[in-house]
Amino acid sequence: MTSPDAATAAELDAQLRRASWVGMDPHAVPEFFPPIFDDRPGIARDLPPGRLLRTTFALDVVPDEAWLAATARGVYRAFLNGVRVGDDELAPGWTDYRHRVHVQHHEVAALLRPGVNVWAVELADGWWSGYLGMDRRHQAGVYGDTPSFRGALVCRAAERTQTVLTGEGWLIGTGHIRYADLLMGQMTDLSAEPLGWSTAPDVSHLAEFAPAWCDEALGVRLDPQRGPSIRATGSLPPVRIDALPGGRHLVDFGQNLVGRVRLQLRSVPPGTRIHIRHGEALSDGELYTENLRTARAHDIIVADGADRDVEPAFTFHGFRYAELRGHPGPLEPDDIRAIVIGSDVHRVGSFACSDPRLEQLERNIAWTIRGNLVSVPTDCPQRDERLGWMGDAQLIMRTANAQFDVAEFIGKWLVDIRDGQSEDGAYPDVAPRIVVDVDGSPGWADAGVLVPWTTALYTGRIDLLEEHRESMERFMSSLERDNPSGIREHALQRNYGDWVSLGPPTPKTLVATAYSARCADALAASARLTGEDPARWEALADRIRTAFRGRFVGDDGLLHDETQTAYALAIMCGLLSEGDLGRAGARLASLIDAAGGALDTGIHGLRHLLPALTVSGQLDCAYRVLLREGHPGWLAQLAAGATTVWERWDGWTPEQGFQTPAMNSFNHYAFGSVGEWMYEWMGGLRPDPASPGFAHAVIRPHPGGGVTHCRVERTLPAGMLAVEWRIRDGVLRLEVEVPPGHTARVHVPVVHTRATAGEAERHSWDTYDVQHGRHRFESPFDGDWAPAARVDWRGEA
Ligand code: BGC
Repeated sequence: MTSPDAATAAELDAQLRRASWVGMDPHAVPEFFPPIFDDRPGIARDLPPGRLLRTTFALDVVPDEAWLAATARGVYRAFLNGVRVGDDELAPGWTDYRHRVHVQHHEVAALLRPGVNVWAVELADGWWSGYLGMDRRHQAGVYGDTPSFRGALVCRAAERTQTVLTGEGWLIGTGHIRYADLLMGQMTDLSAEPLGWSTAPDVSHLAEFAPAWCDEALGVRLDPQRGPSIRATGSLPPVRIDALPGGRHLVDFGQNLVGRVRLQLRSVPPGTRIHIRHGEALSDGELYTENLRTARAHDIIVADGADRDVEPAFTFHGFRYAELRGHPGPLEPDDIRAIVIGSDVHRVGSFACSDPRLEQLERNIAWTIRGNLVSVPTDCPQRDERLGWMGDAQLIMRTANAQFDVAEFIGKWLVDIRDGQSEDGAYPDVAPRIVVDVDGSPGWADAGVLVPWTTALYTGRIDLLEEHRESMERFMSSLERDNPSGIREHALQRNYGDWVSLGPPTPKTLVATAYSARCADALAASARLTGEDPARWEALADRIRTAFRGRFVGDDGLLHDETQTAYALAIMCGLLSEGDLGRAGARLASLIDAAGGALDTGIHGLRHLLPALTVSGQLDCAYRVLLREGHPGWLAQLAAGATTVWERWDGWTPEQGFQTPAMNSFNHYAFGSVGEWMYEWMGGLRPDPASPGFAHAVIRPHPGGGVTHCRVERTLPAGMLAVEWRIRDGVLRLEVEVPPGHTARVHVPVVHTRATAGEAERHSWDTYDVQHGRHRFESPFDGDWAPAARVDWRGEA
């Protein structure tokens, strides 16, 4: 993707409107049968083939400048004279197609030549008409029955501008892409590629091609692409290749990832059919695929005898292992790669510490986030689901912002969320709103308020709040209208509660009401940043707090329903009075002790658990939970070989084996929300709500857990913001790096016990205000560190 100037963009838009959709006549599309979910080769019959489209046009000269504007209801790749245009994958990406489709722009002069040129397109179903989600009644064709493409090519030379549009004169055929589906996989028959279809001026000899069906009507709004393109962002060699019975090869890429396998074919006889299956795990040395549910994730390649690289274009899989059947061998490590694909976000945060397990955990979280940002933030990348579940996304949003530059990606997704907003203000559970098409639940719908706030807080993108403000307010007003008492007990929709909780259930009304308070706080904080009056939302937050205390908090300041999640939420949503915080923290710690030192929350409790322990004076317990080696816990996942974060703590255990395949993703980011604690509390780098985008940073590290060194970094446009602490010989050395134009308030932990004989035990913070530069601090740190309860996180949501 390249960006044209405003005048060119306007011209391209006007031309694209004059163009037509080209594809297959939807009325001629055969009835769509779901594929057969076993290994019979019949699958190729049941999925529609990829379409090949083409036209020719003559140019007198090579244009000085040539722009292609293109989009599809489906997914496409464009070629000019046989050369692929750009490197976007799965363009135009997934938006709420009921409302809009994105348009990509490319500067293509270098691909054109005087004389006859060929413009060709590969087109497949993608999110538009392929398999999507898990609704058994309507698993494919969610938006339409068949894909179509629309494009405009504007070539400017000194003497004249020439425009080529999709429409009459375009041809359509089929060929090497026997089928291509996001969930099911792609079959590529290299021997069936029509000769010269994307390069030859004339294909009248090719029976596959006939005039394309054309439709001038726009049918949907066309928007210039917003957010990063999906691209190939990495390539992993195998770490191991094993031969399996039946001439099969099992390839381990050493990393659970999202993408596809690229095969280098060398001396593979024509007609050889190589069948690639993908899986996240092994069972008894064989690929484990039950947890993919009905996502078949099979790629098939039929060789044509030529030596070449082959990789499917219109599918993606969540996998660490690939099983190849039919490869004649030998399969050398150089013959195969896992190509990582995803929305092209970049790392802006980094984390290092003296405990390599925590470094591995942080990497696993990053892989999980990266893998689940594929046009929309998905719950999981592998099974028949891959939906933009909003609860999971809001829970991971601080961690995602700490690790990656997600603001553009989120800016795009907020439009999907708005497109899914009901007339009365309710947000959905998933965005784009499909499959789960009811209004959203507490903790899920709320992402519509929490995600823009968190992203603006982290990146300083206040424009996102401005753009989304009216929508956020409508949502909040609907919450208020439905729940006038402040207790959120109406319009709860599917009301999932503290999803995948292991412990005693937390009342759903408590979870819901805590989220109402958090949303009201976020809206008030947003209003403060955009210069609106926050009073209405502050008053609402107060009303909700009062109602919460009346319903859920006893006279002793403790909760009636004592679960880890209830305390974690009550503490972090600021629902307890400050004076009760220490006692609540002690109760929470004792609940954890009673559970054998383990967490037992679901996804909502989890995100708040370690921060709640930290702010309520139980830092030690927070570290114990984090570093606990047994199940359930992060380190138990690592010990089981996890390279991404799992959906369930017991996704696989040595004792029980796999959890139910009905719901057992090994690439699910919600439990990765602990990354937020690692960056913000352990490392100690937090954004300041009054000064977002780290214009002013709050630096308050929380050493503990036997960790002797930790460094967190954030790359900002102005330079590096970094915090590093090290403990040695009873001294804490803290080094802070602040880029030009930024400031920070640094809180240096101080512990005096044994070393200062005669002095009373002291745990405190020394505070300094610093500006651009490198700053070093030293403090005595020679005893058990137990910082007291504090409340300075409020309003940050
Ligand atoms: C998804 C979750 C999601 C949940 C809602 C699941 O199928 O994978 O991540 O939040 O449904 O109940």
